[in-house]
Amino acid sequence: MVAVEHHVTDQKARGAYYTPPEAAAALVRWAVRDPDEHMLDPSCGDGRFLALHPRSTGVDCDATAVSSATEAAPRGTVECADFFDWAGSTTQRFDCAAGNPPFIRYQRFTGETRRQALKLCATQGAKLSGLSSSWAPYLVVTASLLRPGGRMAFVVPAEIGHAPYAAPVLDWFARSFADVQVVAVRRKLFADLSEDVWLLYADGFGGSTDHFGLSLHERFVFRSEPPIADTRVPVREWRRWGSRLRPILLPSRIRDVYEKFRDSDRTTPLGRVAGVGIGYVSGANDFFHLRPSEADERGIPRELLRPTVRSGRELQAGAITDETVAGWRADDRPNFLLALGAETPLPDPVIRYLDSPRGVEVRQRYKCRVRTPWYAVPHVSVPDLFLSYMSGEGL
Ligand SMILES: C[S@@+](CC[C@H](N)C(=O)[O-])C[C@H]1O[C@@H](n2cnc3c(N)ncnc32)[C@H](O)[C@@H]1O
Repeated sequence: MVAVEHHVTDQKARGAYYTPPEAAAALVRWAVRDPDEHMLDPSCGDGRFLALHPRSTGVDCDATAVSSATEAAPRGTVECADFFDWAGSTTQRFDCAAGNPPFIRYQRFTGETRRQALKLCATQGAKLSGLSSSWAPYLVVTASLLRPGGRMAFVVPAEIGHAPYAAPVLDWFARSFADVQVVAVRRKLFADLSEDVWLLYADGFGGSTDHFGLSLHERFVFRSEPPIADTRVPVREWRRWGSRLRPILLPSRIRDVYEKFRDSDRTTPLGRVAGVGIGYVSGANDFFHLRPSEADERGIPRELLRPTVRSGRELQAGAITDETVAGWRADDRPNFLLALGAETPLPDPVIRYLDSPRGVEVRQRYKCRVRTPWYAVPHVSVPDLFLSYMSGEGL
């Protein structure tokens, strides 16, 4: 059991989630135009992209993955290295690249690897934010190893469509490739991963473009040809929408309505009349939220527990009243936050809970580690109004 947990954590730390075979097959077909071309997969994992094209080079920092990749692609070359180190010293250049970069969030993507990654990007004229996940520098540095005219086809997280740190990546791609295509896929491509993924195809390295091609697919379907855009998104238009592609996926009549309201004298942004926030982030929901029975068993005083809305489903009734909370109590639901401030005197039962094996484990988590004291969940407030989104509810 412990071994499995270690494996999962290690897998997460390396962003090691492998691509479904039919997606790998499509991306290699898009990237490779000629059998003589030399292809790079900068995070090759078990070599499933390399196995599809004999003239290929793969890199991975995981020795086990590298030995699988060497077996899977006997005619290719596989390097066991940190990609950014390797990229900083190799003189090789490639006709094309295909793969699936690791998605490691900035909190874990740290140290020398990150420093080297951002330095290489800066050399290319890509000023990436300190909040970038690993995939962002991965794409830029991979592109920088292409020959002029080269192309690449990659899995990317769907946040390329909206994350602020993705904007400099797309901006750099528009300045560095003659054709940039983003394929948005609504249904999950990786069934067991919470991350939604899209695809990115870029051709004509060394050129530039004033627009992105954008296409929207309900689900991923294998196609041997590079994508054909449904929508041509001028870079100017993309900037006007806050350097986000996602709003442009909305039907244009909905965007028009939004713009009409936004620009009207009769509307005011909500943020101007109210404080708007996403609520608190506990860092370990199962630990900080208790059922009444559990709190009673542990002797945790009720005054230290605050009723809390944990899911959009709880808002369906339209209001949270004393009766609602009484219902949560009666149903013994884990909707009670252990709300401790830095100054709260800690009764013995609470100290025992915080020092339990689970508490010792939880305090190592990122969100807990970076606050003092680790158990004081910040920004807990009682709102006047809840707004839900992506809840499937309509007006
Ligand atoms: C998302 S997986 C992709 C594997 C394979 N390309 C696929 O799609 O099936 C990312 C891979 O990147 C590797 N990796 C993560 N960080 C790396 C780094 N800094 N240098 C080299 N490889 C790295 C992981 O070991 C993992 O195998």
